[in-house]
Amino acid sequence: MWIEVINDDEEFLCQQYLQYSLNLPDYIGVDNEQAHRDYLKRVEILRSRYETLDDGKYSVETRWAYMKCDHAKQHFVIHDVKGYLFQKVVNFIMNLRTTRHSFYLTRHGQSEYNDLGRIGGDSGLTVHGLNYAQKLAEFVDKNIVKNEKGEDVPARLWTSTMRRTRETAQFIQQNKLIVKSKHDPTLGYEWVQMRPKAWHHLDELFAGACDGMTYEEIEEKFPDEWELRSIDKLAYRYPRGESYLDVIARLEPIIIEMERHQEPLVIIGHQGILRIIYAFYMGLSRPDAPYVSIPLNTVIELVPAAYTCKESVRSFSFVCVN
Ligand code: F6P
Repeated sequence: MWIEVINDDEEFLCQQYLQYSLNLPDYIGVDNEQAHRDYLKRVEILRSRYETLDDGKYSVETRWAYMKCDHAKQHFVIHDVKGYLFQKVVNFIMNLRTTRHSFYLTRHGQSEYNDLGRIGGDSGLTVHGLNYAQKLAEFVDKNIVKNEKGEDVPARLWTSTMRRTRETAQFIQQNKLIVKSKHDPTLGYEWVQMRPKAWHHLDELFAGACDGMTYEEIEEKFPDEWELRSIDKLAYRYPRGESYLDVIARLEPIIIEMERHQEPLVIIGHQGILRIIYAFYMGLSRPDAPYVSIPLNTVIELVPAAYTCKESVRSFSFVCVN
């Protein structure tokens, strides 16, 4: 399947070329200016040889499946695309946006189960957890919902459906603001800032028969399961529960929605879930994903950029357990 991306916004393209030349692996160790000049030369050469996809040129026997996309105009041509995987690719690409915005990933504040070393469950927050919830609300207010001029900008907040993430969201302000339409600035619509949206897809990996146990109890009661999990953490599925592979499958709608939206987004989630989202955006392999460290009391900001994501981490100092 061929994919042609059409964009004639020269200003946007100039920024993209700069980003690519700074991040392209070909230019590791090359001076930035030299890399940029070289990249522009490449673009010139490719432009002179470029042929747009055109079904009229091909006979039925030689035709190709293809997709032409102009995201700025929201215009897509889909030709001869069949089958599950290709149609998924089409769906994903149609939902991509060319604007960049930050994702802020944080686990819930410390829960009662975290304190007891128990996994899963649906416990509420401890005093430390509530402290974090308050700090997080201050952080959101200072850093996410306002631009450099101190004006409100629309932003989103997602949680799982579990108590600990909803309780962590509870102090975040939900002011109303009027957002001007991009197409007609005389028109506006009401936006409820950071209105929490609770997703089942973001619920923690379900540990089935082991839900609510400590790791020591699992090792003692289910030694074979413990052994199996240590051999292949990615594919291991808890008895009557889930595996990380199951979580990857259920996070697909979340990734599509993350790509589709254009506003800064805060996700208050769980360790297992945030590991997968983080690994996806940072380009980590699937076997490595279940081992990513996502500590409590920490906000990880990811800004998607050419070839990678820029990451910055803000930790809040509290007693931190599990
Ligand atoms: O311990 C906190 C927790 O979020 C548990 O609820 C969950 O089962 C676990 O982390 C996931 O981590 P791991 O897959 O490493 O056991």
